[in-house]
Amino acid sequence: MATIKDVAKKAGVSVATVSRAINGKGYVHEDTRKQIDEAIRELNYKPNEVARSLFNKKSRLIGLILPDIRNPFFPELARGVEDEMQEHGFRLIIGNADEKLEKELDYIETFKQNNVIGLISASTNEVLSHYDNLSFPLVLLDRTSVEHPSVYANGLDGGRLAAKELVSRGCKRISVLKGPVETQTARDRFKGAVDELYTANVHFDVMTTSFAFQEAEYWAKELFSKYPDTDGVIASNDVVAAAVLHEAHRLGKQIPEDLQIIGYDDIPFSQFLYPPLSTIRQPAYDMGREAAKLLIKLMDGKKVENKNILLPVQFIERQTTRKVERDD
Ligand code: RIB
Repeated sequence: MATIKDVAKKAGVSVATVSRAINGKGYVHEDTRKQIDEAIRELNYKPNEVARSLFNKKSRLIGLILPDIRNPFFPELARGVEDEMQEHGFRLIIGNADEKLEKELDYIETFKQNNVIGLISASTNEVLSHYDNLSFPLVLLDRTSVEHPSVYANGLDGGRLAAKELVSRGCKRISVLKGPVETQTARDRFKGAVDELYTANVHFDVMTTSFAFQEAEYWAKELFSKYPDTDGVIASNDVVAAAVLHEAHRLGKQIPEDLQIIGYDDIPFSQFLYPPLSTIRQPAYDMGREAAKLLIKLMDGKKVENKNILLPVQFIERQTTRKVERDD
């Protein structure tokens, strides 16, 4: 890969002159600029973004922390952030923390070393002290926080909705699969569901699961070994719901006749499951966009009225739930 030295040598000028030309700083004679542009084209030289940002003291780099890129929910989130940032000329560096604090801390150091000017974090770590005293603005995504600006989809409502829909479709022995207790999202949707089931006075069992793809099958088998007669499942997310659906088929259960299932997230492939998955939709793409919009305002030092944005969720009715008996 060509270096700035190669360009300077080819154009017959100093590295400082090439640097001034690339960064549009200081005086460079028109003819010299042409020589330099020619050398850059011929050598296919790509300026080092960090060097440029250091020279310009104006980086266009934004950091994004995701907890688990194997979970299809998070790429949707990231896409929303990326599109908004792209439209404003910013570039994204994505760090996958694998739900490990040390990896998250590593990425934050990498972001600092690369001169990012803002950070969006969908960290699932309960502790957030490592976000104190950052030299650039931060927005939390897919969680709320008192200290930090945030964008979140209403988990309490989501849990209530899932429970209400199963109860209204005749479920009597519901299993509530609670996601990882250390995550706010899992706690909120679990609380919403349980509050609704208590109010409806419907029997329910609880099982704690993770959100992780690679453990979903294990949780599905656990569910049916513990609660073989369950007639309704509120899954912690669509990934676990897909595994429950798969295991139900393997056990010869008719969906939705014997068992009704509601997922959470509405990730892209939920509509392609058989039967297509009824679920609680989180507007992941819009959540990403909103977080990016909020961060850009903060980076521009704009006054932001609502720093803690709460987006609505909705029930997406497909075929893992029965049609509601409308008594006309
Ligand atoms: O499926 C991943 C889950 O983790 C999502 O529901 C999201 O809210 C996150 O918490």
